[in-house]
Amino acid sequence: MASREALNAKHRIVSAAPVEDDSSFELKLRPQRLGEFIGQNKVKENLSVAIEAARSRGEALDHVLLYGPPGLGKTTLATIIAHELAVAFQQTSGPTLEIKGDLTALLTNLRDKQVLFIDEVHRLQPALEELLYSALEDYKLDILIGQGPSARTHTMDVKPFTFVGATTRAGLLSAPLRSRFGIVLRLDFYTNRDLQVIIERSGEILGVEIDAAGAIEIANRSRGTPRIANRLLRRVRDYAQVRGAGNIDLPTARAALEMLQVDRHGFDEVDRKLLLTIIEKYQGGPVGVNTLAAALAEESDAIEEIYEPFLIQIGFLDRTPRGRIATQLAYEHFGLTPSRRQSSLF
Ligand SMILES: Nc1ncnc2c1ncn2[C@@H]1O[C@H](COP(=O)(O)OP(=O)(O)OP(=O)(O)O)[C@@H](O)[C@H]1O
Ligand SMILES: [Mg+2]
Repeated sequence: MASREALNAKHRIVSAAPVEDDSSFELKLRPQRLGEFIGQNKVKENLSVAIEAARSRGEALDHVLLYGPPGLGKTTLATIIAHELAVAFQQTSGPTLEIKGDLTALLTNLRDKQVLFIDEVHRLQPALEELLYSALEDYKLDILIGQGPSARTHTMDVKPFTFVGATTRAGLLSAPLRSRFGIVLRLDFYTNRDLQVIIERSGEILGVEIDAAGAIEIANRSRGTPRIANRLLRRVRDYAQVRGAGNIDLPTARAALEMLQVDRHGFDEVDRKLLLTIIEKYQGGPVGVNTLAAALAEESDAIEEIYEPFLIQIGFLDRTPRGRIATQLAYEHFGLTPSRRQSSLF
């Protein structure tokens, strides 16, 4: 039992999804303005031009779709957009909206030019999605009044607003919904350098002294994900307080991360299973994504949208026309040697 708990704790620490004690810290560490948002330069540039143009025209900003793996800053950007536009912000999520009335109430109560943020927008029910279309297109809402033969449709105006949708699974978004976003932005995994800056900024906010080498060590093991970087920082801070002098330098960061059993790249269980499946079951590949999905009991588009991009970015996985291949680096990481057939591919 104790060992299962230890295992769960270990899995949670490198999970990109939020865990219980993340939320209060995330609020504190969440950048409020575009200028404080680190990395993702293309996304920031696109947004700042669009925001400035909308502001100078006095219009609502075009609808924005933010997509990318968990923990990269989609919710953060949605709140920043509202801040930068100096408008009201309201947040809900696809699965929370159950009936048409839920959405109708939201839309009819919108304030002028405000941001309406819907997280997990790919999980909106089809009937609600349809209701949304005319609101997004020309700020009109069709409401059915009465029942049976005497039922009539009444068209209402809604205030001009900016719809911000976020999803980790852009592939699951319906084409009609997708086409209604004027601004479509993809968030990528962060470089270790960007993560270092994020960690140093968070350290300052949390009031913990951290030197560059300590920050780099944490950054390298954060799986390209700010949420993981901030979580590791908090745990390393605990360690530094209890076992060290309170500040974080390289030896402290190393010792803490070792104790937490965070591996060199911050891999989570799925990363490891994905690579080991290719290596052990399919002799290093190539193996098709559907076969891989079946072997891992994951959905193939989750593999393509959430797991593969990071492994490809760090050079552990190759996408080829014949399927996925584990690279030499991946073998080395697990202390394995490619088979003869495999090594001829490198
Ligand atoms: N560019 C950034 N600069 C500084 N901190 C960041 C940045 N991006 C994200 N963070 C930090 O990471 C945390 C997680 O980000 P956020 O909640 O916005 O991710 P998300 O993409 O919405 O994740 P999910 O898909 O799980 O909803 C934030 O609270 C914030 O502290
Ligand atoms: Mg979010």
